[in-house]
Amino acid sequence: MSEHVLPESYHIDHILDALEQQGFAIVDDVYTPHYCQNLQEECTSHLNQFREAAIQHGVVSRIRSDQILWIDESFPCAQQHLQNLKQLSQHFNQNFFLGINEVEAHFACYDAGQFYARHRDNPQAKNDRIISAVYYLHDTWHADWGGQLHLQDKQQHWHILQPKANRLVLFQSDLLHEVFIAQHQRLSITAWLRCSRLIE
Ligand code: OGA
Ligand code: MN
Repeated sequence: MSEHVLPESYHIDHILDALEQQGFAIVDDVYTPHYCQNLQEECTSHLNQFREAAIQHGVVSRIRSDQILWIDESFPCAQQHLQNLKQLSQHFNQNFFLGINEVEAHFACYDAGQFYARHRDNPQAKNDRIISAVYYLHDTWHADWGGQLHLQDKQQHWHILQPKANRLVLFQSDLLHEVFIAQHQRLSITAWLRCSRLIE
């Protein structure tokens, strides 16, 4: 559990280029098998604490049917991932002047049959989410298991991205996207790199 530096595979220039050109970037084989396993165990050992994401402040929405658990200091492994995302944010700030100063994140579990309908994470700049970062932490994913991330890029072209294990997808939080119905349990961490005006 000592992933203190950004893994080689991050290829920062590739990420910066892709974000600039398309509004999204894919990074594969992010972590070592050992760390992946620890992260997955941290997630699966708390599945009984996950709550329906669709219920917020007692109001039920039908836009999504997954379950989530917000990540706090009691998840040391996931915190390491968030630290890495903070390091990445520094590159984004230096290159794109984004002013990211905070990362918030939750685990998400889609059981078979679950989905997240078309949405934006930051519609009309209503919140301070700048970049969304989804990391997939199940063991394996087969192309015919559904659960793809369907994402519209900056030029309004649609892309179907497989939720491959150990893959990180970064995208502008204002882009339209959805999660197709998954046929198998699909585990992830969704993080938002934010520009919080409450923090100096
Ligand atoms: C989200 C989301 C995409 C994914 O959590 O807001 O859109 O691939 N996730 O899990
Ligand atoms: Mn989303």
